[in-house]
Amino acid sequence: MCFKLSGKTFSIRLMNVPAIATLPAIFGNIDVYLFDQLLKGRIREGMTVFDAGCGAGRNIEYLLKAGVTVYGADISEEAIASVQQLAEQAKQERNHQNFVVSDLVNLPYSDGKFDVVLCSAVLHFAKDEQHFKSMVQELWRVLKPGGMFFSRFSTTIGMAGKLQQVSGRQYQMPHGPVWFLADEALLREQAVSLGAISLEPLKTVLVEQDRSMTTWVLQKV
Ligand SMILES: C[S@@+](CC[C@H](N)C(=O)[O-])C[C@H]1O[C@@H](n2cnc3c(N)ncnc32)[C@H](O)[C@@H]1O
Repeated sequence: MCFKLSGKTFSIRLMNVPAIATLPAIFGNIDVYLFDQLLKGRIREGMTVFDAGCGAGRNIEYLLKAGVTVYGADISEEAIASVQQLAEQAKQERNHQNFVVSDLVNLPYSDGKFDVVLCSAVLHFAKDEQHFKSMVQELWRVLKPGGMFFSRFSTTIGMAGKLQQVSGRQYQMPHGPVWFLADEALLREQAVSLGAISLEPLKTVLVEQDRSMTTWVLQKV
């Protein structure tokens, strides 16, 4: 690989660079916005990471293989059984017992246990605004001061005129289910009430006129 610096051309050989074809085996189906946080160095070796609503574990597969200490909780027993299997396959014995069936509003962890809390594609399953706020509050409780809260979920942002409101913040989604959709004002109000620092601007992707997915990344002070 060549690069130019102050008009001079330098050539370097990259060592231990994984072949492009091996990337899916290494990173699996990790959310690309979470991958962005990895590239930014916000998830590092030695940290303790909690995946809230972990499902089958697509976002922690790489972290498990990389030897990071990972915990996860999900309301679904089936999801927890799958993620436990994933931890076993990754041969990270210390992670085997770290996955529990639990509702996010009441987690079995002490205050400030985690360096990083991930919550991907979960918060739009809130029953109502109080449930949404209770989940966010509980995830915040278990995050260490200085830690990162990474979440991604469906919102109303960029969807004006495209949504069918059922009641309050519940919307009939074009692909079928009724989801809880926060708006930008609610996210800003929550960030203020948590006393959080925004690590990123809100980033929203419009998915085929069906839904918008917003990435909300905060730091605990
Ligand atoms: C769409 S999946 C996302 C799974 C994973 N985070 C991912 O990004 O692939 C949503 C997950 O949230 C879980 N979930 C929904 N509401 C929950 C709650 N109140 N407490 C814990 N888990 C919940 C579901 O059981 C499901 O596994």
